[in-house]
Amino acid sequence: MTGPALRWGVLGATSYIATHLMPAIAATPGNVLSAVASRPGRSAEAADAGRPFGATARPDYASLIADPGVDAVYIALPNTDHVDWTVRALEAGKHVLVEKPMALEEEGCARIEDAARAASRTVMEAFMYRFHPQQVRAAELLASGEIGELRVVRAAFAFAIPSGSGNIRLEQKLGGGATFDVGCYAVDVPQFFFGQAPRQVSARFHSRPGEAVETSVTGTMDFGEGRGAVFDYSIDYGPRAWYELQGTRGTVTVRNAWAMSGEEGVVTVLTAEGTRTETVPAADHYQLQVAAFARAVRTGSTAPVTLADSRRAARVGAALAASAAAQGAPVPTADVTVPR
Ligand SMILES: NC(=O)c1ccc[n+]([C@@H]2O[C@H](COP(=O)([O-])OP(=O)(O)OC[C@H]3O[C@@H](n4cnc5c(N)ncnc54)[C@H](OP(=O)(O)O)[C@@H]3O)[C@@H](O)[C@H]2O)c1
Repeated sequence: MTGPALRWGVLGATSYIATHLMPAIAATPGNVLSAVASRPGRSAEAADAGRPFGATARPDYASLIADPGVDAVYIALPNTDHVDWTVRALEAGKHVLVEKPMALEEEGCARIEDAARAASRTVMEAFMYRFHPQQVRAAELLASGEIGELRVVRAAFAFAIPSGSGNIRLEQKLGGGATFDVGCYAVDVPQFFFGQAPRQVSARFHSRPGEAVETSVTGTMDFGEGRGAVFDYSIDYGPRAWYELQGTRGTVTVRNAWAMSGEEGVVTVLTAEGTRTETVPAADHYQLQVAAFARAVRTGSTAPVTLADSRRAARVGAALAASAAAQGAPVPTADVTVPR
């Protein structure tokens, strides 16, 4: 890396950020963690979270994004806050890495796109799993032709959140629900490997008694020409973090796609010739994501998770909800109403 380090500020002193993203920023060459901000009255929490990495606290989010000593902002606030704070940070001249979902509606992605263009700044949705070498290996295996042409993707992501835990994922007013928490990963995988949006989706939502948000979902996606995806995701049961690529000549299975915490990746290939299991050395996909984002900032190149990817994710999320509201009827993604 050449040039000065990219100076990061983080909005929200969450335990997830303190244990995953902050160490990843601090450990990635050419990146430093400079500042952490919490909501007003929580500066002590922000200071505690930033101290191990040499970062100092700011009294609120607005002070952090106005700070000339910050080049890039990482946003992991509740889902309903992603668009507004991303736009505000871009308008303040910062580059932004924003947690998934970038937006709950495609219109939010459009606002972000406009702000990024006007400010000439980089913005990317944090789909960290795409940077893990096991995903790269699965893509190589598919491209090698060993399993033939891709026909079906099966994906499942689940973990249980107890009722009454105060978790933002169970709060409707904060953009909670399984779809935009774990579902966005399970439905990204088929789109990533087919390299396109589905033509239509079908989904059934279930809410655990007492919860306002959907807690478990099953569904399918149609990619045309006989190609499809089957998925399920849940914040009610689990754990599960798995996907499978079914080709005309075999199958690639990734055993643990999203919940990596320092263990080796395991990729299994099944063909008529037999079964082969490959291990992929442990890697920190959060660090790899920070490095890829910083590279896009420095070179001015398109971020590897593109704004088109984020628009598609928001559109598919809306289509899943529309299908669930229609008792699982297929909903063409092109028909989802997008204000704008
Ligand atoms: N990529 C991944 O692996 C991954 C993993 C977990 C979460 N995420 C994403 O990160 C985001 C945050 O998730 P989390 O698990 O970190 O959530 P969390 O632990 O509840 O933290 C959310 C943070 O947002 C701030 N906040 C602002 N307004 C809030 C409000 N009304 N209620 C609660 N908190 C509020 C708080 O920080 P202050 O009080 O310090 O301001 C809080 O610590 C979500 O978008 C989620 O999808 C991604």
